[in-house]
Amino acid sequence: MYKDKKVVFSGVQPSGVLTIGNYLGAIRNFSEFSENYHCYYCVVDEHAITVRQVPADLRKRTYETLALYIACGLDPEKNTLFVQSHVSGHAELGWILDCYTMFGELSRMTQFKDKSAKNADNINAGLFTYPSLMAADILLYQTELVPVGVDQKQHLELTRDIATRFNQIYGDTFVVPEPFIPKTTAKIMSLAEPTKKMSKSDENENAVVRILDPKDAIIRKFKRAVTDSGCEIKRGEGKDGIMNLMSIYSAFTGKTEDEIEAEFEGKGYGDFKLAVGETCADALAPVQAEFARLAADKAYLEDVMAKGAEAAARDAARTMSKVRRKLGFIELKRR
Ligand code: TYM
Repeated sequence: MYKDKKVVFSGVQPSGVLTIGNYLGAIRNFSEFSENYHCYYCVVDEHAITVRQVPADLRKRTYETLALYIACGLDPEKNTLFVQSHVSGHAELGWILDCYTMFGELSRMTQFKDKSAKNADNINAGLFTYPSLMAADILLYQTELVPVGVDQKQHLELTRDIATRFNQIYGDTFVVPEPFIPKTTAKIMSLAEPTKKMSKSDENENAVVRILDPKDAIIRKFKRAVTDSGCEIKRGEGKDGIMNLMSIYSAFTGKTEDEIEAEFEGKGYGDFKLAVGETCADALAPVQAEFARLAADKAYLEDVMAKGAEAAARDAARTMSKVRRKLGFIELKRR
């Protein structure tokens, strides 16, 4: 779409207070693309309603997620930051892509299986077709690269299949995107059950470290982190808890796993957990300070939202007009 720059798109659901999983797996990596790509970062509120939300909380978290984007280093002048429901093309293309996505494909999505098990009383059609709305988000902007955690890989593969299918039927319409998945922080695990992903909607607060948690809470949660019955800070079979803490420590310090093992040789789990907690809290402190400043300035956030929505809608309209033409929809001439 842009002859000068390739496009990056990613999104975060405002369905809970963001965790260090969201931070290390996704948001922290977003700003590295700002200079060389045309970047769209979206707060995907339409995705969030696939699970029941309290309206006032959804509204609050939408502001918060946008503020966190900026606090994590995304300059609104260099990135298009916006809210999904402000750009009608997402829902519109989502419907169209529903008609090019197979029931069998959607049935195989592990996130659908997990979420329908968790929300057994609300297995709605939106939860099922969630991936085609996600494909619409991405394809609407002719995206080349999508920075996400590994849990989104399957959705990205489906997005590629949908784009390829559409292109085969109608000729080149969409760029087929690639995922960008970080090597060591693609899946931060729960502190309570280290074989399970850390998730912002987890009901057990001790399982998740949130970007906005105060320092003492962060340290307390790491101190309580479930580990094995051994005592060595080393990688190995059955040491999921320790390996998770090692990847978090590595992400915040830049140290390799070998260096971490050497640093904590002869020391116990208690020392290590405290070090991880302190490092994490110190690394998040500047993000939290910036967040507090931004969150107090609702007018500024609304200004960012409005500008972002305007730019995104303009770009989305180009793809939508192409898609409508290809499908055989009549474009009304302006009168
Ligand atoms: P969401 O809101 O669950 O998560 C936002 C981003 O954080 C990553 N992530 C993690 N990374 C590492 N470890 C974890 N424990 C962890 N938990 C979450 C996710 O992979 C994601 O990158 N469907 C998406 C939102 C979405 C989207 C899109 C993403 C909607 N449309 C288009 C990219 C492009 C989701 O539920 O993310």
